Amino acid sequence: MRWKVRAWFARGRGKPSFWFEDFSGESTVKMVKSYPVVSEEYQKAVEKCKKKLRGLIAEKNCAPIMLRLAWHSAGTYDVKTKTGGPFGTIKHPSELAHGANNGLEIAVRLLEPIKEQFPILSYADFYQLAGVVAVEVTGGPEIPFHPGREDKPTPPEEGRLPDATKGSDHLRDVFGHMGLSDQDIVALSGGHTLGRCHKDRSGFEGPWTANPLIFDNSYFKELLSGEKEGLLQLPSDKALLSDPVFRPLVEKYAADEDAFFTDYAEAHLQLSELGFAEA
Ligand code: HEM
Repeated sequence: MRWKVRAWFARGRGKPSFWFEDFSGESTVKMVKSYPVVSEEYQKAVEKCKKKLRGLIAEKNCAPIMLRLAWHSAGTYDVKTKTGGPFGTIKHPSELAHGANNGLEIAVRLLEPIKEQFPILSYADFYQLAGVVAVEVTGGPEIPFHPGREDKPTPPEEGRLPDATKGSDHLRDVFGHMGLSDQDIVALSGGHTLGRCHKDRSGFEGPWTANPLIFDNSYFKELLSGEKEGLLQLPSDKALLSDPVFRPLVEKYAADEDAFFTDYAEAHLQLSELGFAEA
């Protein structure tokens, strides 16, 4: 197989290839990714599939559950053992049966007719593509997509995804296992700008924002403005307000949507490539 190499930057995480300090004194880690080169036929299927996904998501208004599927697929990655991650295992009934994944069989079912049209694509790529498209079509930032993930045969064990009833220590522990930073935790939590909780899936009920089909920075604005009739804040969302590192980021993203979009796109890209194309 041929490989192409691209370098990208990340703050304070992962295995550094080089690292240095910028003028502000902040240490920066340079990660090198080696993306596999896929065939022309595969690349064409990705482009065509992207269009079909846009159509499905527009027709069914299902961007939120597609984003949740992509995140729950990737968020099981464990950086130490290099197990779990965005490798298609979430299609297996045993992983869908994990408590945190309640309701995600709906997303898998909705996607299946499109997947059947693109047998060349791995489920791993397909689900991550659906997550990227969900953010894009609801008005969020464009997130680069690199194909070439291979499907893994075996789901990870249950218990790697976050518990909504817990606080900052738990969030750091869970995202730390993925190799993600404090900034990633806050930026990615902004994914709750989309969608809602369903009593029969998680035990919680209601949306985080007044416009749950629009990807914007309203999650952070609502979080700062306090509890409101008809809107929901999970204990894990509220934890972002009480933590001295998380809170300034919430304030920054509430005040500056461009800053949120930039950091969200970087964090989502990393999430979608955990354990993939590592140099
Ligand atoms: C920080 C830790 C997180 C916790 C504890 C958490 C918890 C939850 C819970 C309890 C639900 C409700 C599920 C339901 O009842 O249908 C939910 C929904 C959702 N989550 Fe998270 N989540 C977290 C992070 C994320 C991240 C990182 C993303 C994406 C980047 C995300 C995207 C979503 C979306 C889009 C929904 C709505 C799904 C729908 O409307 O069907 N969440 N989350």
